[in-house]
Amino acid sequence: METISNRRKNRLADSDKMALIQSIKALKKEKNAIILAHYYQLGEIQDIADFVGDSLALAQWAAKTDADVIVLCGVHFMAETAKILSPQKRVFIPDWNAGCSLADSCPYDQFKEFVEKYPDHTVISYVNTTAAIKTLTDVVVTSTNARQIVESFPPETKIIFGPDKNLGNYINSVTGRNMVLWDGACHVHEQFSLEKILELKRAHPDALVLAHPECKSVILKIADHVGSTAFLLKCATQLENKQFIVATESGILHEMQKKNPNKTFIPAPPNDSTCACNECSFMKLNTLEKLYSCLKNESPEIFVDEETIRKAVKPIQKMLDLS
Ligand code: 13P
Ligand code: SF4
Repeated sequence: METISNRRKNRLADSDKMALIQSIKALKKEKNAIILAHYYQLGEIQDIADFVGDSLALAQWAAKTDADVIVLCGVHFMAETAKILSPQKRVFIPDWNAGCSLADSCPYDQFKEFVEKYPDHTVISYVNTTAAIKTLTDVVVTSTNARQIVESFPPETKIIFGPDKNLGNYINSVTGRNMVLWDGACHVHEQFSLEKILELKRAHPDALVLAHPECKSVILKIADHVGSTAFLLKCATQLENKQFIVATESGILHEMQKKNPNKTFIPAPPNDSTCACNECSFMKLNTLEKLYSCLKNESPEIFVDEETIRKAVKPIQKMLDLS
């Protein structure tokens, strides 16, 4: 029950938050910084960002901004991609430990060995990889452009696709290709429970299921629409349906609800949890306090060595040119 003393504490917390937001805005101006945020960030970070988008849009913004400083509120590979595209700018991330289990599932030495086993193959890598993996790659893709980029190669092209096997399987199934897949996955998207989603569908028969292609194929098979976070947001906004079950990280519900206040968005639940939604613990490491501190102290900063930038920028630029 809300007591007067609790209400006072919340009011205090709210005024602290307002002060923090004002300080972030002042620092941003002073340092000519831009804040880019992914849809999986906390709602309050999305609200203060100059731009909120999916991983492709974040890369496109990082490539074109004329700010001196980029604060990438997302995970490490996103900040690294921003640095590779804009090496003359300083790039910060609010929490250094904001990694990605999918990128971690693809270590450099093992991927290099894998690639060497298929010397006549084109290497297509998902953007959720380290800069080092990108140096072994011919073209990078995101979930927004993966299908289009794979289809830009003649059908007989032999392709290695990594690291996400679920996205790779999905692209194979919709394009009829037979890409060789690296055996990696995202710990969040692998967790969605088919049974619990079917239960939700029974309880909400009019709801459409929206799913990210990093989900397992059993989830993608029962989804009404499959695509990147930006695509799912577009479906939520443009379709006339009023109810949606959303099988991706639950941070996206913030923007879905904001854009569509009269629609209902139900997060798809994970398998082994009592929680109703599925969060990426890495994405949620970034907080307003850490955003403030990283702008103020100019740390943690992303550095990528020149040789890696020189090699990794080529497949990323190729993706941007093809998108
Ligand atoms: P998007 O390409 O849809 O932004 O997805 C990024 C991601 O990390 C999904 O888990
Ligand atoms: Fe990586 Fe999965 Fe988190 Fe996306 S949701 S950043 S793929 S761990």
